[in-house]
Amino acid sequence: MKTDVHELGRVIAGMRRAYELGDNAMAWARANSTGKDNSIASTLVAYDLQAGSYVANARANPNYINAWCERISELIKPYLEAGDRVLEVGVGEATTLAGVIKEFNCSEIISFGFDVSWSRIKVAQQWVEESAIDARLFVGDLFCIPLADNSIDVIYTSHSLEPNGGQEVAAIKELLRVARKAVVLVEPIYELASELAQKRMAEHGYVRGLKSVAELLGAKVVEYRLLDICSNPLNPSGVVLIAKPHPAPKTDIKLVWSGWQCPLTGTPLAEQGDIFYAEQVGIAYPVLRGVPLLRAEHGVVASQINVGINPN
Ligand SMILES: C[S@@+](CC[C@H](N)C(=O)[O-])C[C@H]1O[C@@H](n2cnc3c(N)ncnc32)[C@H](O)[C@@H]1O
Repeated sequence: MKTDVHELGRVIAGMRRAYELGDNAMAWARANSTGKDNSIASTLVAYDLQAGSYVANARANPNYINAWCERISELIKPYLEAGDRVLEVGVGEATTLAGVIKEFNCSEIISFGFDVSWSRIKVAQQWVEESAIDARLFVGDLFCIPLADNSIDVIYTSHSLEPNGGQEVAAIKELLRVARKAVVLVEPIYELASELAQKRMAEHGYVRGLKSVAELLGAKVVEYRLLDICSNPLNPSGVVLIAKPHPAPKTDIKLVWSGWQCPLTGTPLAEQGDIFYAEQVGIAYPVLRGVPLLRAEHGVVASQINVGINPN
């Protein structure tokens, strides 16, 4: 995120004011910054301000959330087998991830989720604990995922590409890099939406052309349709299911998984107590109140990380 700090301060203050007044914080940022698309900074601030609202909604509408999670688990189930890893990108407060994982035999599936917002991941950690689900949650950016190529068997989204209009190619390319077997995009589908919905989606800077972008990148779309469930008819949810026809060989699950990757350099990253460390390049990523910070911006050049640390 290349952002002038004073500009960032101005945008955050304006968005907070808009949010407190009950206005759309993202719309404020779009109207008051130079680019017309949603920037990652404004997406981050807008969603961070809303932290807690998805859990409140899940408590208030358990039937809807259960039905939503059931639909997603039906889509990804055919691609999962015991010992597989599944990742929700833009996991928010893990209200979808927890429900999806509950649909499987949890002990056989290893689940991950990340979001650009720290506050949402913090709330997600509590929700996952309350839901008795085991999931590895961290802060990350979907355009620079801190995970190695083919390290996750199935990746899915649940309306997280949504605000990243204009960056569809970069987003899908990155998901295809990390996924071994399948990428399941559950997103609003502009091309299958009504004219009224398209107008609203365009105003909000939502993604478009997900199927054609995936195909342009040489991927095989095996399912493409609207779902029979959505919370807002002006934002109709659909699926673009991409299957990799020749998955890379699976790493032996008995071996220690080494899927973490430094988002700045692409070198291996290892968890070392209270940090994640990329030994080859001497870059450390901190953990803030139990939440790993794994965006490129969080990297600290720290070649002497072990100075003064007693190896015993
Ligand atoms: C509409 S919410 C959906 C949250 C969650 N997937 C669910 O089903 O409840 C979209 C989420 O995507 C996240 N997001 C958007 N752009 C992102 C990015 N570039 N990297 C990581 N997360 C992102 C937002 O922070 C937000 O939590």
